[in-house]
Amino acid sequence: MSASIGANTRSLIQRDSSSVWHPFTQQSLWPTDDPMVVDRAEGMYFWDTDGNQFLDGVSSLWVNVHGHSVPEINDAITQQLNRLDHTTFLGLTHEPGIQLAERLLETAPDGLSKVFYAGDGSSAVEAALKMAYQAHVQRGEIRPLYLHVAEGYHGDTLGSVSVGGIDLFHDKYRPLLLTTAMVSSPGLMQSGQDREQRASQVLQEMRALLEESGDQVSALVIEPLVQAAGGMLTHDVSFVQGARKLCDEFNVLLICDEVATGVGRTGRMWAVEHAGIQPDMITCGKGVTGGYLPLSAVLVAEPVYEAFLGSATSGRTFYHGHSYTANPLSCAAAIANLDLMSERETVAHAALVGERMAESLRPLAAHEGVKEIRQIGTMTGIEVESVKDRTGFAVCQEARRNGVWVRPLGDVVVLMPPLAIENSELDLLTSVVSDAVDTVVR
Ligand SMILES: Cc1ncc(COP(=O)(O)O)c(C=O)c1O
Repeated sequence: MSASIGANTRSLIQRDSSSVWHPFTQQSLWPTDDPMVVDRAEGMYFWDTDGNQFLDGVSSLWVNVHGHSVPEINDAITQQLNRLDHTTFLGLTHEPGIQLAERLLETAPDGLSKVFYAGDGSSAVEAALKMAYQAHVQRGEIRPLYLHVAEGYHGDTLGSVSVGGIDLFHDKYRPLLLTTAMVSSPGLMQSGQDREQRASQVLQEMRALLEESGDQVSALVIEPLVQAAGGMLTHDVSFVQGARKLCDEFNVLLICDEVATGVGRTGRMWAVEHAGIQPDMITCGKGVTGGYLPLSAVLVAEPVYEAFLGSATSGRTFYHGHSYTANPLSCAAAIANLDLMSERETVAHAALVGERMAESLRPLAAHEGVKEIRQIGTMTGIEVESVKDRTGFAVCQEARRNGVWVRPLGDVVVLMPPLAIENSELDLLTSVVSDAVDTVVR
């Protein structure tokens, strides 16, 4: 722990260590890894309990859009709180839930016409997988297989893990999971291959699988353009376009998981817009509420929805939902977030943020300690050479000493600032991280 740590912080860390189990955290290392206790946040910054200020370089794990403590979103939540805190969405409805669905569909690609709410990204993916299977059953076909992509990540519930492809996170659970078939990652080029060739090779793999057992496959699940948790692996749009064509040919539903890429992160509202395709379902979460409250959703194409219509006794109902489905406070935050995004043209701003980041990081790409910088829009991964145990973590700790908070995925240092970040803050982010890489990876 650092020497400047105050008595209050020390006590909180001790209490934390004796009662809390953190996600994605090796608890035996946690107390000695200089844990940060966050006290408050405003704009692009947050402060720890010792008063130190940090730039939020990963949007509080890829969720924040306009910064923290945004007056318009704070007001929307407060007003909603004073009117309706929560009711079930099972057999009831409310205006924030209706309005948010309308707003999401206004932004969505053509053909998506219904919104099914869930809680976190994982639960949206879970719902989409079940929907895809049931839709086929109700059209008279049993298709118990899912197709997915190596290095993909779709969350931590067992259905989402089934369509994941990151050994570190998913391998242990394989005996428990749904039946799937996996194609290679279109973002992992083989030597001499360009991005288009790689996309075409993986599409051929996909075709071979579909020719063999396409009539068993309910859905293909992809992260369009960026496999985020896989290390910000980016691929060519032709992969997404080719996947759409194959799904059409083999009557397989295409689920585009935009939990990470959606809501402006790639410089478009939805990553599929880069490819100009219409998915059968988009799963979204994270940035929908501006990074304030949990809420996710599946945006569904009309033919999928129609497969669920029937009489009360038809057995066609989607028996799936959660206690806090469409929580009105989350909906109010999301509506305020989308309002601000359209007023401030946040998606166009995010595209500019991406361009400036690419420019500022160009010198770093030539650094001998950097293997590759991958980026689409504001989603950026700096893969560093492994020079010691947990090199990526060491780079992030060095950045933290200089007032910037970023988090690694192994030896990939991720930069994903709030979309509304201004130039001076962005320059601070890229310069501190560049210096941190230089200090740690020499
Ligand atoms: C593409 C993708 N899908 C699903 C998830 C899971 O979302 P959540 O952590 O909200 O369950 C994530 C989380 O990072 C993600 O990146």
